[in-house]
Amino acid sequence: MQGDVGVRPFRLRDAQPWSEARIRNEDWLSPWEGRQPGLPDAPWEEGHSPGAFAAMLRGMRRESRAGRQLPFAVMVNGSLVGQVTVSNVVRGAFQSASVGYWVDREVAGRGVMPTALGLVVDHCLTVVGLHRIEANIRPENGPSLRVVRKLGFREEGLHPRFLFIDGGWRDHLSFAVTVEDLTEPMVSRLVGLPGQ
Ligand SMILES: CC(C)(COP(=O)(O)OP(=O)(O)OC[C@H]1O[C@@H](n2cnc3c(N)ncnc32)[C@H](O)[C@@H]1OP(=O)(O)O)[C@@H](O)C(=O)NCCC(=O)NCCS
Repeated sequence: MQGDVGVRPFRLRDAQPWSEARIRNEDWLSPWEGRQPGLPDAPWEEGHSPGAFAAMLRGMRRESRAGRQLPFAVMVNGSLVGQVTVSNVVRGAFQSASVGYWVDREVAGRGVMPTALGLVVDHCLTVVGLHRIEANIRPENGPSLRVVRKLGFREEGLHPRFLFIDGGWRDHLSFAVTVEDLTEPMVSRLVGLPGQ
């Protein structure tokens, strides 16, 4: 929790607010979301119903128990407004993971995601014991680039044709932070920035 913004694990009772937010925000979210090529395009409402959430939660819990994923609900004053998912967790000599995230358009531009992502990265690089977190972002996604730049992620390069999004293989800029970069909690880098 930092100010009004907190992150916590998902619960079954998040089904309704998650579904409402996802359906209301289809135009806002769909240009940035990857999907497996070759699979038929399910209607957005069907893929984001409360029932779809329950199935997603079962999958997320299975992946979490296996140590491959850490999904977080993003809360503002007790209401669910978004999600941060830490996935592709690899241990061994790598100790790395990648993050994906979204917020409801109604709360965009208030610094909610920088705070939520900062809290998650701090947790992953301390309590969870990971060494590195990466974020891969389409060069066209100005708001998302702002989030990682505010938090001081390092830009590491361009991955051509990296993810299948919106009907094609899209280039992504890669950003990362390692535990050596955290001389202080990541969220404290935001203090004094507009919107915090
Ligand atoms: C990317 C995203 C999570 C940013 O979350 P956020 O909580 O709005 O982050 P911020 O408040 O720091 O705003 C980031 C930038 O969004 C832009 N922005 C500000 N107000 C906005 C608004 N009302 N609507 C849209 N964008 C806005 C600004 O460029 C802002 O940067 P600035 O603070 O330097 O002006 C959010 O835009 C989102 O969910 N987008 C759709 C899904 C997505 O792109 N996910 C990431 C995929 S890599």
